[in-house]
Amino acid sequence: MAFPITRLRRLRRTEHIRNLVRETRLTPDAFVYPMFVCSGEGVRKEVRSMPGVFNLSVEEAVKECREVHSLGIPSVILFGLPDKKDDIATGAWEENGIVQQAARAIKRTVPGLLLMGDVCLCEYMSHGHCGIVKAPPQSLGAAVATPPVAAADYEILNDPSLELLARTSVSLANAGIDIIAPSDMMDGRVAAIRNALDHAGHLNTPILSYAAKFASGFYGPFREAADSTPQFGDRRSYQMDSANLREAMREIAADIEEGADMIMVKPAMPYLDVIAAARNRFDLPLAAYQVSGEYAMIEAAARNGWIDRDRVMMESLLSIRRAGASIILTYYAKDAARLLA
Ligand code: PBG
Repeated sequence: MAFPITRLRRLRRTEHIRNLVRETRLTPDAFVYPMFVCSGEGVRKEVRSMPGVFNLSVEEAVKECREVHSLGIPSVILFGLPDKKDDIATGAWEENGIVQQAARAIKRTVPGLLLMGDVCLCEYMSHGHCGIVKAPPQSLGAAVATPPVAAADYEILNDPSLELLARTSVSLANAGIDIIAPSDMMDGRVAAIRNALDHAGHLNTPILSYAAKFASGFYGPFREAADSTPQFGDRRSYQMDSANLREAMREIAADIEEGADMIMVKPAMPYLDVIAAARNRFDLPLAAYQVSGEYAMIEAAARNGWIDRDRVMMESLLSIRRAGASIILTYYAKDAARLLA
């Protein structure tokens, strides 16, 4: 070669120049930190499959929120572990539900933090499904006692579930939740929730819809954290088939049509193509949820000394951002914010 062919590498030589030409940046203000609230006092129970993530009683959750806020993270999303479960998800919508209690306490102490409320019924249902179940001919009690029940024997009812989701949303907004985030995947829930919020006077409460939520094995550790594993069957009749990108666009379009203010793709890393396609096609703020299994995989490999935890954590978050998500729900919010400080 008569002359050097160095070209692209010129811009990679030093950290200074790499910094100058960097296309994607992570900042803590993109993060939302998920939290699991339970009853009791002084409870701080680590989730076995999610080291570093805890079930927290209300005052512990408040403490955690102070820390989250001081790290420059603007928002948390709350999940509840009720004391009692039933087949109408009372714990989700009752005035003194666990998330409602936590929301009031956090609003009082850390008013600057934006509170998201995950709206779903599975954590509050005795059967662990995200909607009302039409039981097989025997009673549902029998079905719950003797899993597995064949898929043909029961059905998750769409329209009757909407009423409970709407009731839950209004109750959360009454308790001070700033952003309503439905994750149940029933059809028509965004319209039902918007309508209920407006009628209750919550015209300024935005909806962040888990619009493209896939039926995913990556939710495993969450179901331990939130105690929401279905007692029979699975979620494939309402959550999306992992194989379907075009259908994800239809889900998102439908939610926007119904009044969603922000949209979400979930999980994140196995669905970066869906995030990128959604970014290209829709103009609403786009969120992605780096779910429990994504977190658990990184933690497990790091604990074995097989990967560099901090490096892989930042790389995974950057990939989600680069794909086009402007908001990232992640169990790494605090750790990543500390590294970015
Ligand atoms: C409730 C809900 C789930 C997650 C968020 N909201 C679980 C599920 O659908 O089974 C998963 C979050 C995670 O895995 O981190 N439906």
